[in-house]
Amino acid sequence: MAPLRNHIVFYLNGKCHEVAGERAGWMLADYLRYDRGLTGTKIVCAEGDCGACTVLRHFPRPLRGGQGGVAFLPMNACIATVAQMDGSSIITVDALAEGEKLSPPQRSMMECHGSQCGFCTPGFVMALTGLVEKRLRRKDRGPVSAQEAKNALTGNLCRCTGYQPIVDAATALDIKQCASVEERFWSLAQERDLRKVLSSPVALEAGEFSFYAPRTLKEAAAYLKRHRDARILSAGTDLGVAHNKRKLRLTRVVSLHLIGALHEMKKTGKSRLKVGARVTLTELRQAVKSSVPEFARFLDLFASPQIKNVATLAGNVGNASPIADTPPFLLAANATVHLQGPRGKRLVALDQFYVAYRKTAMKVGEFITAIEFDVPRPGERLALYKISQRKDLDISAVNAAFRATWGKKGITNLRIAFGGVAATPLRLKKTERVLQGKALSAETLALAVATMHNEVTPLSDLRGSAAFRRVLCESLLLKFFHEHGEAP
Ligand code: FES
Ligand code: FES
Repeated sequence: MAPLRNHIVFYLNGKCHEVAGERAGWMLADYLRYDRGLTGTKIVCAEGDCGACTVLRHFPRPLRGGQGGVAFLPMNACIATVAQMDGSSIITVDALAEGEKLSPPQRSMMECHGSQCGFCTPGFVMALTGLVEKRLRRKDRGPVSAQEAKNALTGNLCRCTGYQPIVDAATALDIKQCASVEERFWSLAQERDLRKVLSSPVALEAGEFSFYAPRTLKEAAAYLKRHRDARILSAGTDLGVAHNKRKLRLTRVVSLHLIGALHEMKKTGKSRLKVGARVTLTELRQAVKSSVPEFARFLDLFASPQIKNVATLAGNVGNASPIADTPPFLLAANATVHLQGPRGKRLVALDQFYVAYRKTAMKVGEFITAIEFDVPRPGERLALYKISQRKDLDISAVNAAFRATWGKKGITNLRIAFGGVAATPLRLKKTERVLQGKALSAETLALAVATMHNEVTPLSDLRGSAAFRRVLCESLLLKFFHEHGEAP
């Protein structure tokens, strides 16, 4: 058995770092700036919104059979602890220039006047470097379009320049002239080194902070049973923000990054997809792009690339927010939550998983290992909606999912789910029953709308009043049947 480590290991700008002690509990951006003196990485919002702290990260996943490919992807350094970087290779803006020679994204930002006060600039440069890296990985060296640039830069905010010069800097890039980060900073020796690191568990204790990373599910469950104050930290895109805002303290942290099976995605049954708890939303989007294009489109609407490159489906479900964006789809897709606990594994249907506001059916010591859901079959209609004040990257006022099949027996396999209209994500079973097996008619729809109003119990908050949310629910229900309500 590999020896237990009391430190974490990662590569920073091509050099190996071991971190023990309380610095492992610092946020990565703080560590870069105040311990390593890498002040190129800026901290502005400290909540994963503005992208000023963007760095590139490659994590060679401990998958069975080894290779998961090399991908340096943008992530926010302000809401991730140093400990979470265990086994990764991190690149910061400080390393991009070669001597006096700026990298192409840096030069392009300067030549197109994409920088004014400069606070956001390193983050934009890193996001652009991530875009270049993605293109080089695909061996696509063609020109960058304005839309492609905007998509890559959605996780970065600038308060003074205005975005046009920055988009110009992206479209002016000549990818053919760009050297890849992978070529500059990654090597087989580094890969071997990190894979060795990933084979040994971590138990790091440093004053108030402790970090435990087991190699097996059983060890994780046993630890969680012994330490009821422990929190599983995956991406930490929510917990990291709460920690920075001093709403909680990340003191006893468990990470499941060393457990290979949790990084896997596989087809199960006739038409189901099982997504491991450590699969990122970026990886999930890639996997469902052709099989569930509506879900892939929906994933484009929420969270920046920096967030989706680390955040997970299991995290979005387990966080138990009533307005989380994936649960309505998952409820419509008949999802099952795979749990591991001290007494073994068990499955819970997602529509039984949420028991009250921010409360789930998980027992002490249990945690999510995977989420499994139906891949809709040909002929099934699936529609996902998200209503928020901004079109992209905003918390929804209401979100919704509808799934149905039309045939000789009328509407079948109907599933309707909403978020933001009750204390938990909500499947509208009574409304479904009104419509199930019927042909669409004005009377049936009117009865469905009335039933829906009895099932939802929205609150008023800064994203919308209860009355507004009711109007949205009604409109979305009618919209789905208006747009999809006939036999294919
Ligand atoms: Fe704003 Fe990190 S400082 S996203
Ligand atoms: Fe000032 Fe962007 S140049 S915030």
